[in-house]
Amino acid sequence: MVIHDIVVIGAGLAGMRAAIEAARAGLNVALVSKVHPVRSHSVAAQGGINAALKEDDSWEAHAFDTVKGSDYLADQDAVEILCKEAPENILELERMGAVFSRDERGRIAQRPFGALSYPRTCYAADRTGHTLVHVLYEQILRAGIWIYEEWMVVSLVVEDGICRGVICLNLATGRLHRLHSKAVILATGGYGRVFKHTTNALINTGDGMALALQAGARLMDMEFVQFHPTTLRRTGILITEGARGEGGYLLNREGERFMKRYAPEMMELASRDVVSRAEQTEIDEGRGVDGCVLLDIRHLGEKKINERLSQIRQLAIDFEGIDPVHDPIPVRPGAHYSMGGIEVDVWGETGIEGLYAAGECACVSVHGANRLGGNSLLETIVFGRRAGRRAAEYASSTELKPFPDVFLKEAAHEIALILNRDDGERASTIRHELSSTMNGCVGVFREEKGLKEALDRVRELRERYRKVCIDDKGDVFNTDLQNALELKNILLLAEAICLGALERRESRGAHYRKDYPKRDDENWLKHSLFCLKDGEIRIDYKDVTITRFPPKERRY
Ligand code: FUM
Repeated sequence: MVIHDIVVIGAGLAGMRAAIEAARAGLNVALVSKVHPVRSHSVAAQGGINAALKEDDSWEAHAFDTVKGSDYLADQDAVEILCKEAPENILELERMGAVFSRDERGRIAQRPFGALSYPRTCYAADRTGHTLVHVLYEQILRAGIWIYEEWMVVSLVVEDGICRGVICLNLATGRLHRLHSKAVILATGGYGRVFKHTTNALINTGDGMALALQAGARLMDMEFVQFHPTTLRRTGILITEGARGEGGYLLNREGERFMKRYAPEMMELASRDVVSRAEQTEIDEGRGVDGCVLLDIRHLGEKKINERLSQIRQLAIDFEGIDPVHDPIPVRPGAHYSMGGIEVDVWGETGIEGLYAAGECACVSVHGANRLGGNSLLETIVFGRRAGRRAAEYASSTELKPFPDVFLKEAAHEIALILNRDDGERASTIRHELSSTMNGCVGVFREEKGLKEALDRVRELRERYRKVCIDDKGDVFNTDLQNALELKNILLLAEAICLGALERRESRGAHYRKDYPKRDDENWLKHSLFCLKDGEIRIDYKDVTITRFPPKERRY
């Protein structure tokens, strides 16, 4: 029997930070990840991590920017924690070995980023996530944390309302395993692959959110999907906001810096929702270039580009055949981040005893309706640490109760049904229809007709999924099977996104309804909540926590 005190699902920054904190309490901790930890999607975060480090900045200013950026939907008690705890967390990362870029005085360098009133984004060139992932991975090895890499969790075991472990598929062997534990922490990241055009890695299929929902936890604010303004034309690969932070600007086909018409003060560094909508408007109204706008960084010069933005230079060369030293980069909005996720408190508690969540898969909520760039890495570290600490306290005072075989048998039965079906719906077909529908109807601009169509289509696809079939019947790295299991997760989440977007009859942050173009605080200053009843998603609402920043109109 395999037993751990705490099992952490997902080995990106939130998962690793949580695991390190739990291990510091002297507990037996394991990480489960679909990939080797340093291939987790956190490595794709480029531009930086926010913290008020300098004397003339303050955590209150950081909190205000975050709340304003969230279009006042963030819970302000959680935002206060995020911003107050940011500096100590950055310094701890540095002590662990994170090599941040430096300013001329040798301090941690900080760059301007979207919707920030002060340049407070700490960075390691344009490889900040990559740097931090490697630093935390070293700490994971140092702490002797057990790693199940290339394992996929197929179900959470919740018995009598208490989470008792997980059932995992070892992707290398095709065997199912039980991991018994006193606590489970979900840190599985986002669901960007619900959409066709996304910055997200193939692994980002929202597994943790779907598992939690099916296990009886609630999801929150699922209609809020962030579309990053600068993603590469063909692949959706991220081109960091740091490019604009360093002075890059956006042009339409007429060579106009069009942001002056949309955000005259902040221009290209307005909040992401504002910039993405501006770009999409330019494209829709015929002022785009081949379905894109242009990001111009040529004036920064080769030296600065190589020093601060070398990764995006290489990405543009490799994936678009364009060298940004000489030519502007064609970019367009792409699905980037999920503001919603598993409803948790500021300690990562989900409402199911023994089950915790942190990072993008969780919704604390510090991002509300629109996240600021540089706040997601911060969230992973601050709330990963808190979830690890609280889970450790719980596990230290709890007896382990192994769960019965029936949970394994149920998971094995579900997988056998897929493997044994010879005739049915191909997973790839369903997935293609799903992601096209989501991009077409639930994108930067939304309206009732398209949302209804999308919801109907997603429900139809969920029905068709019941007959899903795959070609590969083998055991070893059966990616066909993995895709089919992931598809079930993204279908479930897509339904929540569509339902939330259809019901929310206002525009707020990243959720823009053409038919309800105004924010409506009187009726909609509230979080949406999603639960699963008899296989159907139900929606409910709860109040937003407001402490020090009363809602007002947002301008950039
Ligand atoms: O643009 C970026 O570098 C992305 C950063 C983020 O999403 O926080």
